[in-house]
Amino acid sequence: MKEIRGNVIVGQSGGPTAVINSSLAGVYKTARDRGAKIVYGMLHGIQGLLENRVVDLSEHIKSDLDIELLKRTPSSYLGSCRFKLPEIHEDQEIYKKIFHILEDMEIEYFFYIGGNDSMDTIKKLSDYSILNGSRIRFMGVPKTIDNDLAATDHTPGYGSAAKYIGSITKEVIRDGLVYDQQNVTLIEIMGRNAGWLTGAAALAKCEDCEGPDMIFLPEIPFDIEEFMKKIAGLHKQKKSVVAAISEGIRVEDGRYVCELTDNVDYVDAFGHRQLTGAARYLASRIARETGCKTRAIEFSSLQRCASHMVSRVDITEAYQVGGAAVKAAFEGETGKMVILKRISDDPYICVTDIYDVHKVANIEKKVPREWINEAGDYVTDEFLNYLRPLIQAELTPIMTDGLPRHLYCKNNKNQ
Ligand code: F6P
Repeated sequence: MKEIRGNVIVGQSGGPTAVINSSLAGVYKTARDRGAKIVYGMLHGIQGLLENRVVDLSEHIKSDLDIELLKRTPSSYLGSCRFKLPEIHEDQEIYKKIFHILEDMEIEYFFYIGGNDSMDTIKKLSDYSILNGSRIRFMGVPKTIDNDLAATDHTPGYGSAAKYIGSITKEVIRDGLVYDQQNVTLIEIMGRNAGWLTGAAALAKCEDCEGPDMIFLPEIPFDIEEFMKKIAGLHKQKKSVVAAISEGIRVEDGRYVCELTDNVDYVDAFGHRQLTGAARYLASRIARETGCKTRAIEFSSLQRCASHMVSRVDITEAYQVGGAAVKAAFEGETGKMVILKRISDDPYICVTDIYDVHKVANIEKKVPREWINEAGDYVTDEFLNYLRPLIQAELTPIMTDGLPRHLYCKNNKNQ
């Protein structure tokens, strides 16, 4: 007989991924199978919880088909937020309010699916819980296309975004060959201050594609004059030049290239500037200074919501980390995040474990210098050997009337 547990609540926070709902499905299914009474979902993470915006997930997920649809649904099903909790000693009122809400709902287990900022929330809530003798357990479930979370080999969401980037970079390179004239295409890729995702553009280099000519990660200061010279040098050998740049490349003095434009930048609660416009800025400069035809392509949110092309490895692991978080919390763990530990590359074997969230929160894991070439304009084979297993195989969308079908959250007011 399965043990009867207390209630569970789960939320999603930070930027979404194409497989973040697979983790939600993993939390929900495992919690139900292991005897949770009610599994609640917070709408828009902790911010929604503070306004009592919660749903009973059993009213949303009614069948095995719903679980399969949820796994394949892009963007955060429950809605997300970028909400920073104050330090515990700075303002206890907000914590009192959160714990009052959780206790009213008889919550015993709290799961938060997110990246390094979201792990800051788990860290603070689990610390407050221990300090105040609460029995509620707090667990972090990792996700982010940026792959910049410490301690874990990689993050769910990264493999699918990388697969999509590798695929569309191949297509964009081919498109650049159309006209018999000089042209430059600049691709701008997300990832903030870590170049894991931008490096994925190198996947396009294969038997039937030359790959991008240059790849610039935020780990290396970006020299605009040097970049212009490299473009001119490449144009002596070929007509179509394609470069992938991270949204987070910075010039030597630390300013983001996108800050050199006259963009009005949005800054979130964690102090993160919205990074957009670096490719457009550089493309305009090339066009102005050389008269060459240019195109700036910002992959933007497409790279994190392309659920029609997820990696099967990634969506499976996303489900597993959700399940592993529930198992650990039900066994008494708190203040931890689930991590992925790679056992081998070939055959690819990866297992889950748990790790102290204090050693993960707010830390950005960068691409190691030795995985970037000496010139600082491409990634190495080691980088690709690390990445390739994560993009393998597909999970076919469930199609209706020619389009992928998703699970639709009617309670999310933004939908
Ligand atoms: O953290 C994930 C991420 O997709 C980053 O790569 C990107 O810079 C950021 O989120 C964009 O955030 P938002 O959707 O809040 O503008």
